[in-house]
Amino acid sequence: MTILVTGGAGFIGANFVIDWLTAGLEPVVNLDKLTYAGNLENLASLKGNNRHVFVRGDICDQGLIEKLLTEHKPRALINFAAESHVDRSIHAPEDFIQTNMVGTFRLLEAARAYMNTLSDAEKAAFRFLHVSTDEVYGSLSPTDPAFTETKRYEPNSPYSASKAASDHLVRAYHHTYKLPVLTTNCSNNYGPYQFPEKLIPLIIHNALAGKDLPIYGDGQQVRDWLYVGDHCSAIRAVLERGHLGEVYNIGGNNERANLDTVKSLCAILDKERPRADGKPYSAQMTFVKDRPGHDRRYAIDARKILNEVGWRPAETPDSGFAKTVAWYLANDAWVKNITSGAYRDWVAKQYQ
Ligand code: NAD
Ligand code: DAU
Repeated sequence: MTILVTGGAGFIGANFVIDWLTAGLEPVVNLDKLTYAGNLENLASLKGNNRHVFVRGDICDQGLIEKLLTEHKPRALINFAAESHVDRSIHAPEDFIQTNMVGTFRLLEAARAYMNTLSDAEKAAFRFLHVSTDEVYGSLSPTDPAFTETKRYEPNSPYSASKAASDHLVRAYHHTYKLPVLTTNCSNNYGPYQFPEKLIPLIIHNALAGKDLPIYGDGQQVRDWLYVGDHCSAIRAVLERGHLGEVYNIGGNNERANLDTVKSLCAILDKERPRADGKPYSAQMTFVKDRPGHDRRYAIDARKILNEVGWRPAETPDSGFAKTVAWYLANDAWVKNITSGAYRDWVAKQYQ
């Protein structure tokens, strides 16, 4: 038996594949287009591991997906592949529509054709797990209840709208074609191998490089931060114990305003790698122009996944942030390798 993972050279996908294989579970076929966000260095620890098969390709290529399914006969397809950065979706939405919407459609079509080739027992075992985001639910006020799985979809960015569309397609393929799907909607992740366009790695990288720490608007936007390893364990749990056709929210019980998140990271860095001039890293914080349509608050009600699947996060906010800063300090070469070329062009465009 194998599993097919898409987007497994990106941040969460790579963590998932590494954790999966470290746990001694089935071999993984890993399909990734290697966009700017896909990085084979994330998978360097799997070099020479014959339980990991990497295939460079696009989820929009239905023929390729069908070929991989026929050839490897996976018992599950887990879809991480996406364009994932909100700010990039504001500058250039086209790729988000192609990969997140059309790509998910192609995967669903390929999985539907594949199901028809399986025996009854194989059909019963097969799962299509779609990895999605809490951003599909829109923005909360400070006093609104946290997102439950029945919250109305109100996406506000091209990114979240494209993910919302993909979620609807996944749902429809279950209802119409009985495709055995599971959908997870997760809050903000952080941890090793996250591309430093996202807040937490960007802050760590800029702090160490002596650059400004850009805070959008007033910095009072709230996110519910989850350590990536906990997201991966939640996906494994939903894959094994989730009910077909159901949606599970995943969160870290860790709501924080961006300003507080940045201050926490600065405080850890002050301890672990003090600035040469003795000043605190928080002195580098700079308020910049806000993100257009910036969602004010996300918060996850994670009772369903706890009650039905028995999952809860293992990391506390403090342990997760400390582990993450330690990883970036120890993996300076990884950061250096990706913060060149196209990355520098993006930073120049976004923070000019
Ligand atoms: P990422 O941008 O780091 O990685 C995405 C990966 O997908 C990259 O390796 C990229 O090369 C690959 N990819 C992009 N387009 C592709 C295509 N057309 N075909 C094949 N591969 C393609 O993203 P991430 O942060 O790891 O997010 C993974 C998934 O989790 C996404 O679906 C995202 O919406 C979802 N998610 C992310 C977060 C978060 O905080 N990062 C939270 C909740 C949900
Ligand atoms: O909620 C889940 C989502 O979390 C995922 O679906 C997305 O793929 C992922 O990118 C993330 O989206 P956000 O937009 O919340 O994450 P980002 O790291 O870009 O920003 C986090 C918060 O920090 C947000 O309120 C914007 C703010 N921010 C971000 C950057 C990059 C800043 O203040 N300054 C910055 O430079």
